[in-house]
Amino acid sequence: MNGEFVAWEDAKVHVLTHGLHYGTGVFEGIRAYDTQLGTAIFRHREHIERLFKSAELYYMPIPFGAEELRLATHELITRNGLQACYIRPIVFRGYGQMGLFPLEAPVDVAIAVWEWGAYLGEEGKRTGIRAKVSSWRRISPDSLLPASKASGQYLNSVLAKIETHKAGYEEAILLDDQGHVCEGSGENIFIVREGRIFTPPQTASILDGITRRSAMAIAADLGHEVVERDIGRAELYLADEVFLVGTAAELVPVREIDDHAIGTGAPGPVTVAIQAAYEDALHGRNPRYHDWLDVVQVPSRAA
Ligand SMILES: Cc1ncc(COP(=O)(O)O)c(C=O)c1O
Repeated sequence: MNGEFVAWEDAKVHVLTHGLHYGTGVFEGIRAYDTQLGTAIFRHREHIERLFKSAELYYMPIPFGAEELRLATHELITRNGLQACYIRPIVFRGYGQMGLFPLEAPVDVAIAVWEWGAYLGEEGKRTGIRAKVSSWRRISPDSLLPASKASGQYLNSVLAKIETHKAGYEEAILLDDQGHVCEGSGENIFIVREGRIFTPPQTASILDGITRRSAMAIAADLGHEVVERDIGRAELYLADEVFLVGTAAELVPVREIDDHAIGTGAPGPVTVAIQAAYEDALHGRNPRYHDWLDVVQVPSRAA
């Protein structure tokens, strides 16, 4: 926290922390995997870059450099003796200033690591999940900044997630303010129709997902055409295959949406092939994607 290593139980903030009241924080969700090259953080630099962009959009200067955050994360993982973990950096307006004008509140930075299994479950990754189109629309650029991974913005995902959970489904799919398919509550979305892969473009108010970019690269490497274009709600139901991608969830097939079976109702061949290649990339099993891995260096101080 703010440049110091702090024990889990001591990693606390004041109740008048600005970000706690007004959602003035930005964060990242990153994963490190136990790979053939050692513990490696998947697309670490890209995540840190997005953290800086998210902060910039909310006028929050981060009081550390990208490389400092990267190396602090390495040391944190090493000190905790973790081979694989979830990594949560958060930058937020801290204690010292209440009211809506935040620019005089300090900008605090914390990074936490812990072991966290697949967000939508291992079974979901294998057999697919049931999803529901939420009645809540994804935040629009008229009111907020969909490109920023900002804490307060997640109230939108939280509402969709609660609604979906109460209705007995495993994940929510949000439409954008125009009624086009946007994304999951914490994942980007892809559909497969007649051999082509489609995913919504940036203009659909998506978060520019790093797994999305990885899945697009892998799909292209496997010889698939990936088209970024608006997707209508009915196209979801009529798709041969649908899958969700995100750091926490990884790549999850969707077998049912709003009680319509997707394709055969089981994960389809394109989804399964991209998922397998993605798992190989995460675990360092394909040298083609080794550039995506930031192998954790044991810092001499912590060794
Ligand atoms: C709303 C939302 N969309 C998409 C994603 C997927 O992004 P990424 O693949 O970078 O984890 C996430 C997860 O961070 C998210 O919270």
